[in-house]
Amino acid sequence: REEVIDIPVVVHVVHHTDEQNISDAQIRSQIDVLTRDFGKKNLDISKVSTAWQGLAEDARIRFHLATTDPIGRTTTGITRTRTSRTSFAPPDPEATDPEKRKGNQVKFTQSGGQDAWPANTYLNLWVCQLERSLLGYAQFPGGPAATDGVVITYKAFGTNGTATAPFHGGRTATHEVGHWLNLRHIWGDKRGCAGDDFVADTPNQEGPNFGSPSFPHVTCNNGPNGDMFQNYMDYTDDAAMFMFTKGQVARMHSTFENARMTFAA
Ligand code: ARG
Ligand code: ZN
Ligand code: CA
Repeated sequence: REEVIDIPVVVHVVHHTDEQNISDAQIRSQIDVLTRDFGKKNLDISKVSTAWQGLAEDARIRFHLATTDPIGRTTTGITRTRTSRTSFAPPDPEATDPEKRKGNQVKFTQSGGQDAWPANTYLNLWVCQLERSLLGYAQFPGGPAATDGVVITYKAFGTNGTATAPFHGGRTATHEVGHWLNLRHIWGDKRGCAGDDFVADTPNQEGPNFGSPSFPHVTCNNGPNGDMFQNYMDYTDDAAMFMFTKGQVARMHSTFENARMTFAA
């Protein structure tokens, strides 16, 4: 698909403290980052290594805060919910409660969170205090509507307010929305060289990269250019990730012909 997809976003702020009740300005800063990053308009695109410049692609996806709510009323695209929960558990495969196992408590009003808006017309973004150090997580296309969307800690959302270095560039949402559009981690979620992200133009790499690596980092015979650690779907710091590839863009757009076709005009 060549056309540009424009996605209405609802941000559900679920807060236990006033600090967690982040400002409209912080929310807008996140929407701006998403639109820049998925439009190849990010200022740091110039930092992509020469070897990969030809692969970096405009994802042709834009984002805006929803202007009408599910029953047609004017809205800011932001919901604010006070919760008695001090934090929300990220997905925990060991948990016995099924919603806790999937990290879904923030997604339901009855468990101290906020119910999703219809997932066929809105991207739901929940912002809350997460347990442990997890920055965020996403549901891949094809899952249940009631839990569809992305959850992000209030410390790694947007670029101002409570956003905290080195995750104050809004890239957690860029990464998670990549998952929401069916992208896998570029190392294929399996350590060693057998992991696959099902994208041909991202080199095979041994595992995640962290921090701000220097070029090249060769693993899995992927020299001379090595791991594409500048990709949004690696685990590097916000200031060290700045590109999607042509193959990733094609994979994201194919979801608009399948599970997420309701977002294509
Ligand atoms: N750990 C998270 C995940 O696997 C997000 C990582 C985001 N990285 C970043 N630099 N903000 O989904
Ligand atoms: Zn991820
Ligand atoms: Ca690949």
